[in-house]
Amino acid sequence: MPVIAVIGAQWGDEGKGKVVDMLAESADLVIRFSGGDNAGHTVINPFGKFALHLVPSGIFSARATCILGNGMVINPAVLISEIDQLQERGIDTSRLVISDRANLIMPYHILLDGLEEEARGGKAIGTTQKGIGPAYSDKVARLGIRAGDLLDSEGFRERLSHILEHKNVILTRVYGAEPLSLEQVYKEYCRYGERLAPYIRETMTLLEEAFSRDDLVLLEGAQGTLLDPDFGTYPYGTSSPPTAAGAVLGSGISPVRLNRVLGVYKAYCSRVGSGPFPTELQDETGDLIRERAHEYGTTTGRPRRCGWFDAVAARFSHQVNGFTGMAVTRLDILDTLPRLKVCVGYRLEGKEIDYFPANVSLLEKCQPVYEELPGWEKSISDIRKYQQLPPQARQYLERLEQLVSCPVSVISVGASREQTIIHRDIL
Ligand code: GDP
Ligand code: IMO
Ligand code: MG
Repeated sequence: MPVIAVIGAQWGDEGKGKVVDMLAESADLVIRFSGGDNAGHTVINPFGKFALHLVPSGIFSARATCILGNGMVINPAVLISEIDQLQERGIDTSRLVISDRANLIMPYHILLDGLEEEARGGKAIGTTQKGIGPAYSDKVARLGIRAGDLLDSEGFRERLSHILEHKNVILTRVYGAEPLSLEQVYKEYCRYGERLAPYIRETMTLLEEAFSRDDLVLLEGAQGTLLDPDFGTYPYGTSSPPTAAGAVLGSGISPVRLNRVLGVYKAYCSRVGSGPFPTELQDETGDLIRERAHEYGTTTGRPRRCGWFDAVAARFSHQVNGFTGMAVTRLDILDTLPRLKVCVGYRLEGKEIDYFPANVSLLEKCQPVYEELPGWEKSISDIRKYQQLPPQARQYLERLEQLVSCPVSVISVGASREQTIIHRDIL
C-alpha cells in the first residue's frame, strides 16, 4: 500500500484538511509532519464542522491512528483544548499519538514571536504569533524542549532551568520585558505532561508495524510550499518545511517509501500575512472572491489576500515536490465569474520570464502575464463526475494541467467531504 503525502502547493489554506479527511476514510495511519497551531485545517464531514490546528485531520477515520509527528512544534495547552473539544463532540481520540521527538512551544516562544514582529516594524512577516519561528529556531539551536522530556520531570526541570535562564536574559535585556518564573512554567508544563503522557510515545515502531501490514499511510501537510524556508518567498514564510521532503523528514519515513505526492491547489490563490503575491487582486474581483469564499484565516481571522491562479508559482511548486497528481479545490468559488484569468508568465524589468525568482525584491517587481478563459457561470457544487462539469470548467482544469505539467486527480466543488470529484486514481 502506498504512502501518500498531501502537500500545500501555494501559500497555505488550499484545503489540505478537507482532502486528508476524505482520504483518511481508507487510511490506517495519518501523520501531521510539520508546523504547529499556525495551521488551521477546516473539515466538514458527517460529524460536523471542525477547525483543527494540531490534531491530524484523519481523526474522524474509524480506524486510522493519528500521529503528531516529530517535525511538529506543539503548544500543549492548545492541543489539550483541541482534544477536549473533539471529545465533547463525541469524536474518538483514543488513537491519537504524540511523537516523543516533537518539540514543544513554550511561553517564551510566544512572547518572543510578538516582540520580534514588533521589532521588525514595517518589515513584519505577519506571523500567526503562535511562537512557531522561535520554537523552530530553538530546535536547531539545540535549545528545544521535546514532548518526551515531559515524561521525566526531574530531567525536564533541569533542562528548563538552563534554557529559561538564557531566555530571560533575552526577554529582559534585549526587549525590556518581564522575566518568566521557572516555578510557574515548570508547574504548568508538568500539568500538561500528566494530561498528555498517555499519548506521548516513540513512533518508529508504529511505522514499522504499519509497513509490515502494508497499511495505507497518509502524511498531512501544513502551510504551503511557497511559505517554505528554502523555496518560499523568504523571509516572508514559515519556519518548517511544508514540502514532500519535509513530509518524510517530519514523520520519520524513508524517502524511498513515499510513492504518491498529492499537491493541493486552490483554483485561484490566497495568502495571509506579508510578502510578495504577483497575482493579488486589490480590486472588486478580489473582494468578490474573498466574500464568496469567506477567505478569512481559520487561525487568526485575518482577511486573506486573494488573486488569480499563478501557473508560474504552481509549476515551481510541482518542481519542488514532484507531485504525482493535483487536487484542485474551491473550483465552485469561480462559478459566478464570466471571465477567468490565469498567470502564465511574469514580466520582470521589461523581459518575460517563466521561472519563480528566489529573491522577494525581484518577485515584488514581477508583473503577471495573463491568459483569459471563459467562465461557466453556473453552480457546480452538486456535480460528482468529471464529464458532467460544464465544458468551460473542464477547459480551465485542462489548461492548469498543461501549464503545471501535472495531472488533476481530485476536484473539490464544495467544503463538505462528499463534494468531491475523483477524476483519476490517487493510489
Ligand atoms: P487548509 O489549511 O489547507 O486545510 O485549508 P483551510 O481549511 O484553512 O481553508 C480552506 C477553506 O476552504 C476551508 O474553509 C474549507 O472548508 C474550504 N473548502 C475546502 N474545499 C472547498 C471547496 O472545494 N469549495 C469551497 N467552497 N470551500 C472549500
Ligand atoms: P495552513 O496549514 C496560511 C503564514 C502566516 C505568515 C507566515 C509566518 O492552515 O495552510 P508563522 O506563524 O508560521 O511564523 O507565520 O506564514 N502561515 C500560514 N498561512 N495557512 C497556514 O497554515 C499558515 N501558517 C503560517 O500568515 O505569513
Ligand atoms: Mg488553513
